[in-house]
Amino acid sequence: MTAPKVILVTGASSGIGRACADLLHARGHLVYGANRDPARVDAPWRKLAMDVTDEASVARAIETLIAEQGRIDVVVNNAGLVLAGAIEDTSLDEAKSQLDTNLFGAMRVCKAVLPSMRARGAGLIINIGSLAGLVGLPFQGLYSASKFAIEGFTEALRLEVAAFGVEAVVVEPGDIATSVVENRVRAAASGEGSAYRDAFRAVVATYEKEERAGAAPTVVARRILAIVETSRPAPRYAAGPFAQRLLTGLKAFVPAKTFEWGLMLYYGLKRR
Ligand SMILES: NC(=O)c1ccc[n+]([C@@H]2O[C@H](COP(=O)([O-])OP(=O)(O)OC[C@H]3O[C@@H](n4cnc5c(N)ncnc54)[C@H](OP(=O)(O)O)[C@@H]3O)[C@@H](O)[C@H]2O)c1
Repeated sequence: MTAPKVILVTGASSGIGRACADLLHARGHLVYGANRDPARVDAPWRKLAMDVTDEASVARAIETLIAEQGRIDVVVNNAGLVLAGAIEDTSLDEAKSQLDTNLFGAMRVCKAVLPSMRARGAGLIINIGSLAGLVGLPFQGLYSASKFAIEGFTEALRLEVAAFGVEAVVVEPGDIATSVVENRVRAAASGEGSAYRDAFRAVVATYEKEERAGAAPTVVARRILAIVETSRPAPRYAAGPFAQRLLTGLKAFVPAKTFEWGLMLYYGLKRR
């Protein structure tokens, strides 16, 4: 094993973040797990209060960590939520809230840790994207938008921070069995009055089925551990069910209309 690293995992109270914090801690790294209400979390690693939508809360947590350890080696930007709803049914406030957590949350954390990483000439930022950031998913358009954004954000960040000895990578999980099903937020207008109601319900039911049958969060945790312990990480890593990684990868090789036809067939969507 490499020398123990000081690691912050955001969204460590459940799912992928929890599995990741547990595994990194078990491996001997010095782990800080953050979530909005750490009092609810029973964990062997150090806990931090952090709401990634609140700049002051992010700053406080990073200041505490750096005051205690003098450095931060790795950040796993994992905190996130899933907003479901047809784009037409999604209010601008709901859309902003999705991006505020999944994209700007990661950005707030990056901005808070980069000064100390640059000063030390070392650091690793692991942003949790999604296969939904490579393929636009129906009725989760804003979630997909947030994860596509994480792709571009990480690609750009990687180029900017390389000169300071800092690395940035994106990890793209497929369906993982976590609390994502219970925590999914539905756009307020996606209920009875929605023109998309039946298709929305059917597609979200498919997502929930796939998530419940998804890979264990430890699969992603093991991938993250490998990234933490490698000396020169790649720009991106897929993680999760092989079939989903394969199908997503097909997007680069089949004609766009054929790929879209396959998606519509899979989700039972019709074209007039
Ligand atoms: N599960 C999947 O199939 C899947 C697939 C691809 C990507 N992902 C991504 O993996 C990440 C983790 O998801 P998960 O499936 O493990 O979901 P989860 O079990 O619902 O966990 C979400 C975590 O995010 C935290 N969180 C949410 N909003 C937050 C905020 N404003 N500030 C701080 N923490 C916040 C939650 O903590 P508190 O509520 O305790 O604050 C919780 O720890 C997300 O970025 C998700 O998009 C998941």
